[in-house]
Amino acid sequence: MRLKLAGITKTFAGRTVLSDVSADFGNAGVVVLIGPSGGGKSTLLRIVAGLETPDAGSVSLGGGEVDFSSEERLRAHRRRLGVVFQAFNLFPHLTALENVALPLEKVHGHPPQAAREVAMASLERFRLAEHAGKKPAELSGGQQQRVAIARAIAVQPEVLLFDEPTSALDPEMTAEVLETIETLKAEGRRFVLVTHAMGFARRVGDAVAFLADGRIVESGPAAELFGSPRSRECAEFLSRVLRY
Ligand SMILES: Nc1ncnc2c1ncn2[C@@H]1O[C@H](COP(=O)(O)OP(=O)(O)OP(=O)(O)O)[C@@H](O)[C@H]1O
Ligand SMILES: [Mg+2]
Repeated sequence: MRLKLAGITKTFAGRTVLSDVSADFGNAGVVVLIGPSGGGKSTLLRIVAGLETPDAGSVSLGGGEVDFSSEERLRAHRRRLGVVFQAFNLFPHLTALENVALPLEKVHGHPPQAAREVAMASLERFRLAEHAGKKPAELSGGQQQRVAIARAIAVQPEVLLFDEPTSALDPEMTAEVLETIETLKAEGRRFVLVTHAMGFARRVGDAVAFLADGRIVESGPAAELFGSPRSRECAEFLSRVLRY
């Protein structure tokens, strides 16, 4: 998907959260970001998503450089993406179907009836048709996350962004959602994934970056980074998280 980051710096209230982050992931279909809590993964993903503006540096996604200079340009950038966050990103007062239809209608300009049809097809594709009329509180965590994935896919994004899509789920629901994400990879979907599920990261990742203290300490092909990390920091992180 040609994701390239160059010199990205981000400061919140005087605290540097990302410091000169650069990486060229080439044509990797699936890019995975791993690293300790607070390292800056979500912030970086939000910048790629055009939800946060870097203080310095640039993001290129799919050839073009993201233009952070105006809200209108950022909206155009966001329309190319499907985003799935950790949890609770469905509107609680809307049904599953309405949740999926909403961005189709409001962001992508589909007429209401067409939006509902596309939304229903997307729910069916993820085996959620029977839950279309339910509100999030009536769905399991795994089902809610699959509705969120159905919503992200329904808009036919060029790239999907996942931020710890399973961290709020129990093991069985985690498996259900990871299996869904794996089918997306098998279909050739391109995505950037932040995850603490290391086995999964290794399996689906084409390129992996290890982020700690606001820097990319190491990045490379998944097999290399997981198989023989070059940096002590990454090696220690992996040995710690893979123990459990
Ligand atoms: N909007 C914000 N305002 C102030 N500080 C922020 C904001 N967003 C993030 N931070 C800080 O930036 C740092 C990096 O946060 P970030 O959420 O990117 O980390 P992370 O790698 O995603 O961590 P985790 O694995 O726990 O999700 C943290 O210290 C966090 O407190
Ligand atoms: Mg995070």
